[in-house]
Amino acid sequence: MKPELPHTSIKQILWGKRELEARVRELALEISRDYNRLEQPLVAIGLLKGAFVFMADLLRELLIPVEADFIRISSYGNKREPGEIRFVADQNLSIRSRDILIVEDIVDTGQTLSFLADQLKSQGALSVRFCALIDKPIRRERAVKLDYVGFCYSGEEFLVGYGLDYAERFRNLPYIATLSLSEIQSDL
Ligand code: IMP
Ligand code: MG
Repeated sequence: MKPELPHTSIKQILWGKRELEARVRELALEISRDYNRLEQPLVAIGLLKGAFVFMADLLRELLIPVEADFIRISSYGNKREPGEIRFVADQNLSIRSRDILIVEDIVDTGQTLSFLADQLKSQGALSVRFCALIDKPIRRERAVKLDYVGFCYSGEEFLVGYGLDYAERFRNLPYIATLSLSEIQSDL
């Protein structure tokens, strides 16, 4: 079958398959070292949908016991601008007295993670840390402390691939790329 690529709206590949693999492995090693003496398994919570690819790869490289769950907060819908943040599905495991690692694809304004930090603290987690594949600080509105960051992106372009979408498209790309918004209509 012919691959769907290249899309005319993909402008520039920032991190390819190999770079992603290598960086994810490094992060997993760092996390494994930091959490190697827990009494109970680490609880990794991925934010749907964007983090599903990163989460799957990261967890397979961890060298420590881990439980996995996902939550979904919609902040963008199908648009670029953030809207209301709300729980779509709550996690079904108790986070009380557990060590929580939130796994996110990209941190932009910081609204999503600061909202989540408040929620998790009020639910009695023992510790909460944040792991983001990409830190994109240019539009940051809320300060968030990121404990593990894969890549820092200092530009302001919209990124897609490796879980990140534009209007639900491009999540399946094996790399992360910038998107040309002027070309996007021809690809949707
Ligand atoms: P924040 O609350 O503004 O930090 O929003 C973070 C969420 O917005 C991420 O989980 C992504 O789903 C989405 N997002 C922000 N920037 C991008 C981008 O460049 N590409 C794809 N999704 C993005
Ligand atoms: Mg997201």
